[in-house]
Amino acid sequence: MTHDEVPVLYGRKASSRVRTRDLLAAKQRGEKWAMLTSYDQYTAAMFDEIGIPALLIGDSAANNVYGYETTIPISAEELLPLVAAVARSTSRTLVVADLPFGSYEAGPEQALATAVRFMKAGAQAVKLEGGRRMTAQIAALTGAGIPVMAHIGFTPQSEHTLGGYRVQGRAETGEEIVADAHAVAEAGAFAVVLEMVMADVAARVTKELEIPTVGIGAGAETDAQVLVWQDMAGMRRGKAPRFVKRYADVATVIEDAARKFAEEVRDGEFPAPEHGFH
Ligand code: KIV
Repeated sequence: MTHDEVPVLYGRKASSRVRTRDLLAAKQRGEKWAMLTSYDQYTAAMFDEIGIPALLIGDSAANNVYGYETTIPISAEELLPLVAAVARSTSRTLVVADLPFGSYEAGPEQALATAVRFMKAGAQAVKLEGGRRMTAQIAALTGAGIPVMAHIGFTPQSEHTLGGYRVQGRAETGEEIVADAHAVAEAGAFAVVLEMVMADVAARVTKELEIPTVGIGAGAETDAQVLVWQDMAGMRRGKAPRFVKRYADVATVIEDAARKFAEEVRDGEFPAPEHGFH
């Protein structure tokens, strides 16, 4: 394998941004990849440095940054500064911004106006929730030069219609997911997130579509996997969804550090002479 043939998505620093066509090429090579959420400069820079090819400024910032119960309340005004921070702090990852609930459903014009704001803030692609019902929006955005990642299966912005957090694609509803997947691909999406979809349905969609599938709770056969970084790193405490794997216990590391700091302040150990100006 020559240097140029080394897969660009993992393992070495590329000199330029990952593009949507790189993700398509990875699928054609059979190379799987990981996407993480990021909402701030430090995690963005870390994930960029280690070669995570795509970062999502998810509307999950609602739960993970802003302290809302669901993703429904978050606004474009709250998400835009996070997108700008992640874009400024990275040089190679593809920066994907989620369009928040209420900012694109009204129609292609509304979607385009919102997506333009996110692109101007530094995003290189946007993500929106919905399958067949969103094809006009996807076509309008891609037609205007904005790459779109679709999101089907369990779509958290519609949790009140879907009856809560429930796996999608059981029995005959599997065909609905397959139809949604084909519709978003035909409308021009460059990738599609499959959230909480039965593994066999996700595997079938992955086989049938040319564009990459990004799974979250959709089994092992999707082309890529995405997790919320606070779930992945154990920053978030409490019961995690079944599809989450915790790779670290960052919450304990930070708690221990904060406890030690407070103890040392109480005991007069911090600051020591070397921490001051004398
Ligand atoms: O907002 C988000 O974090 C997401 C991922 C779970 C796909 O949409």
